[in-house]
Amino acid sequence: MSENHTQTQPRIRILIVEDEPELLDLTSLFLQSEFNAEIIEARHGLEAKKILELDPHFNIVISDYNMPELDGGELLSYVRSLALPIQFILVSAVDHSKALKLKNLTPDATIPKPIFIEPLLRAIHQFTDHLITNTPTEDYISASIDHLFRFGSVPYPLFAQLTDRKFVKVLHENDFFGTEELERFRKKKITHLYIETKHSQNFFKKQMDAFLALSQNKNLSQAELTVVNEHISSVVQEMSLIFGFSKELEFNTKKTVDQAYHTIISSPVMKGALKNSRMPSGNPLVLHSSRLPYLANHLIQIMGWNSETSALKMAFASLLHDATLNHQIHASYEFDPELIETAKKELSVDQYHHFINHPLKAAEVAAQFGGIPSDVDTIIAQHHENCMGTGFPYRLNHTRIAPLSCAFIVAHDILCYYERVGDQFKMENFLELKQDQYCAGHFRRILLELIFTKK
Ligand SMILES: [Fe+2]
Ligand SMILES: [Fe+2]
Repeated sequence: MSENHTQTQPRIRILIVEDEPELLDLTSLFLQSEFNAEIIEARHGLEAKKILELDPHFNIVISDYNMPELDGGELLSYVRSLALPIQFILVSAVDHSKALKLKNLTPDATIPKPIFIEPLLRAIHQFTDHLITNTPTEDYISASIDHLFRFGSVPYPLFAQLTDRKFVKVLHENDFFGTEELERFRKKKITHLYIETKHSQNFFKKQMDAFLALSQNKNLSQAELTVVNEHISSVVQEMSLIFGFSKELEFNTKKTVDQAYHTIISSPVMKGALKNSRMPSGNPLVLHSSRLPYLANHLIQIMGWNSETSALKMAFASLLHDATLNHQIHASYEFDPELIETAKKELSVDQYHHFINHPLKAAEVAAQFGGIPSDVDTIIAQHHENCMGTGFPYRLNHTRIAPLSCAFIVAHDILCYYERVGDQFKMENFLELKQDQYCAGHFRRILLELIFTKK
């Protein structure tokens, strides 16, 4: 809530009507971060109509077209029947203007999906310049708990609302928002949490990037979905027997790996970065990168950190983390970090330098590409760091390694151990080996969880 209680300009009232929950949440977040506005959300046309029946005094209705119950055209017709100065913005992937014209209906603006933010901003400015300032005056903006869960973790503190003007911090920055948290808030009937308005624009930008990365390949054809080729399927089957992956985990991982893969190859710049994750036989790093997302997702599931975005981040990080390595020179050192001293003796200065810095180089590749969810570059950059601060290139210890990176590092450790011992792999041997090294923080939590689940 605002410290300044004497607002000179009235808050505009906006009703958003959208049946895709991600888009509804994102639009709401965006408008709250840009405007001094009261935002009301409706999940379909009928719900919007009911809201308008109770209180029709909105400045703007932003509505999707295709919705169950009552579509955007029918809602427009109802809004016009109210004969109030309500601006109606239609959001649609398809042009419905002809059909609407036949019914004598014209929205005040029509904007395309899913890239709708810029046009939406222009349309709202056009209608409301005389009504509002651009700055939100509230201290907090709200985000639904389902939205926070979908995105896995938030780089800012989250607050719960106690009273109209009192907020209390319930999660720290970068805390995980997994199934446990979702259930906890649901049980308390909390539907929204709050983030400080000063972070709202950055927060929104990160969420939008992740959303676009996710939506880009949602409509892959069946033929395209079979990109995960046979050798990867057999690799996964073999791992399932050892690690006890569920069918659901296999299916979901396969799906996110395909999404990540298609997002990467859609960029001419990024395509080359996949040489170590999809090029056929003869390159042991191909197997390594194909196996890793399954183990990483298995771990985040065990930890209750799983969400669609976390899984996608793991897929991107797995595909790209060793993208800059030369498999003929560096593969053996990649699989056994204990060999780092040997690498120093065996490799030329340049080759050694290249190896030590490969996490940073690969992170740079990922960071250049806008279609990749935020944090993937951090996960990649940290994949050879460890709990004790003896890893490379930065010797970060557990206090400075992000939770998703910890899960990725442990998955990578398990995989490298498995790649070294093959059939002889036993989880208890791995845990025994790592019991002292995973000494604190999220590393310890993951170790304990693995001991309890024995998988
Ligand atoms: Fe690796
Ligand atoms: Fe690596």
